[in-house]
This record gives sequence, C-alpha cells and structure tokens, in this order.
Amino acid sequence: MKAVILAGGSGERFWPLSTKDTPKQFLKLFADKTLIRQTFERLSYRLSPEDVYVVTNQMYAHKTYEELPEVPKENILLELLKKNTAPACTWATLQFDDEETIFIVPADHFIPDVEKFWNAVELAEKFLQDKEGIITFGIVPTRPETGYGYIEVESEISDNVYSVKMFREKPNYETAVEYLNSGRFFWNSGMFMWKKKYFLKQMRKHSKDVLEPFFEYKSIEETYEKVPSISIDYALMEKADKIYTIKADFVWSDVGNWKSLEELGVENSPHSVLIDSKAFVQTTKPTIVIGLEDVIVVETENGILVAKSTELEKIRAALGKLDGAR
Ligand code: GDD
Ligand code: MG
Repeated sequence: MKAVILAGGSGERFWPLSTKDTPKQFLKLFADKTLIRQTFERLSYRLSPEDVYVVTNQMYAHKTYEELPEVPKENILLELLKKNTAPACTWATLQFDDEETIFIVPADHFIPDVEKFWNAVELAEKFLQDKEGIITFGIVPTRPETGYGYIEVESEISDNVYSVKMFREKPNYETAVEYLNSGRFFWNSGMFMWKKKYFLKQMRKHSKDVLEPFFEYKSIEETYEKVPSISIDYALMEKADKIYTIKADFVWSDVGNWKSLEELGVENSPHSVLIDSKAFVQTTKPTIVIGLEDVIVVETENGILVAKSTELEKIRAALGKLDGAR
C-alpha cells in the first residue's frame, strides 16, 4: 500500500496564525508538531517513509522537505497551479502499478489514536483485496455541518463496513438537517482508498475532463494548465459506481477553525484573565476579557483577531478587505 498526503490547500481560517505562505498543515496547533508532521508520523507507524507520497504546491516545497526529511524527495509531487484535489489524486495515483492500493489522506486533520486509525485502515485494505470499489471512512455526524461531504449507507455488509447508496458533497443547511435526522448518513472524513485500476476506470467513466489531460500532454506543466480545478468529491465521489464506507471508530477532527481547537481541549494562554466571560484566548501578551460570551481572541505577530465564535467563517471576507486597505 502507498499513502498519499494531500497538502496543497491554502485556507486562511487560522488567521492571524496562518497566512498564505503558512496554511493550516504547517501550523503547530497541538503540542510542538505541525499537522503535516503528525499526519506523516501516523502513517509511518506502519508504513516505511518510501511508501509515503505527498502532493503539494511548489510554494510549499521547502516547508514540506523540512517537515518530512525521511520522505524521499522524488515522492513529493509539486504542483505549479492550485487545481484542487481531483488533479492531485489523479497525478499521485498515476505514479503507481495497476494493482497498487492507494490511501489518500488530508495533511491537516487531527486523529490522536493511531492504533484505532490503523485498525480501520487495515480493514479497508483487506476489503479491497478481493472487491472492487472506493473506500471512504465515515464519521458519525453530530451537527448539520455544511462544510463536509455526506455518505448515505445502504447496509452493513460486515463488521463496520457499509455499502454506500450515495455520496453528496457539501449539501445546503436544510439538506444537512434532513440527512442528520434520518440517521442514515455519515460525514466523509476526507480519506479515501482505492486500487489504481478501479480509480482509472471510474475517472474515465465519470470524470474524463480531469483524467484526459494527464495522457494528452507530455509535460505536467501543460497538463496542469489544461486540467479543470475541481475536488475529488465532486469529480468522482458523487458519481462513483461502487463506494463502501468504514465506520471510523476513532476521534477525528478536521480542525476547521479556532472554535474547533477550543472544543479539542486546547487551553487558553496562561496569562489571560476572564471576568464574567466565556472566551478562547491565544495571545502572547497578558490579556483580560470582561463581560463577553463566546468570543475568540487571538494575537500573533501577523495581527489581532477578536470574533464571535459562531461567525468565524467571515474571516476570509474580512481578510479580503484588509488586503484592499493595505
Ligand atoms: N495537492 C493539493 N492540491 N492538495 C490540496 C489542494 C490542491 O490544489 N486543495 C486542497 N488540498 C488538500 C488540503 O490541504 C487538505 O489536506 C485536503 O486536500 C482536503 O482539502 P480541503 O480544501 O480541506 O477540503 P474540504 O475540507 O473542503 O472537504 C473535504 O474534506 C472534508 C472533511 O474535512 C471533502 O473531502 C469533504 O467531503 C470532507 O467532509
Ligand atoms: Mg478541509
């Protein structure tokens, strides 16, 4: 089995800690290791570093080499343009033999229990030995989150393995509420497993415009110029013929924003004092919060964020205005 870490996302939801040059995967949000380093260590618990690949943007090449010195440089595929995850998954999969099993993982998720994680991965790998299909890893949903993909299960075909009726990427709020209440849906954790042969067969059938440029053009530069920008969830998962899901029996978070760090138990900065307040404080200077509920206060050398914890998605728009003002 080969593992592929998707590490080319940008994302500024952790401003003022993250910037364009340092997206989430390169932040040390927990303890003293970056999320990409934690992802690599989780994989190398059972895999040799030679079997770990990374697809990232060329602007993060240096940071990636620095974080993952054990991974051979030729395993780190550098994209010239940001074209989302479908081209990244395709380019990586094309590196391997037809019969190879490929495990795709995002670089920026939090999964603390490595044993339980590997139990699920090994179950998936075993399942694919004699069955065709794409494996997803399903998380039991707890809220009508609109930032995730949803997996509708058909039936449990063996312990923790379900056949899938449908995959729906990022539904609107009303649909997400419906899915949650039905009890038939999992969240998509963003990890996938497939064999190269089946992946190519499915891409040829459902997503030709993404696959073809990889065969049509000689250079990867030209391929990337021509390939459409689309995520693997829309390009393939919503259309794929045979999908299975393994119920993820481990703690998982995609660490979406500052609020999720608070939920994961990250503590306030030691020099903060809260009076009649409920606040998540990450600052380098002594900080006092008085009489405020559900507030996030973050200060780094890049700037200061003071926000209501339920409105953090507005950071992106605000940053656009900040750029304009500078
Ligand atoms: N190489 C490369 N190139 N990687 C990329 C690119 C790209 O252009 N764009 C994003 N990535 C990486 C990100 O760094 C991240 O590790 C992973 O691919 C997923 O991309 P996101 O942009 O974070 O996707 P998402 O969070 O909107 O949605 C996905 O994850 C959810 C769970 O967190 C989907 O798979 C959803 O269905 C899923 O629920
Ligand atoms: Mg994500």
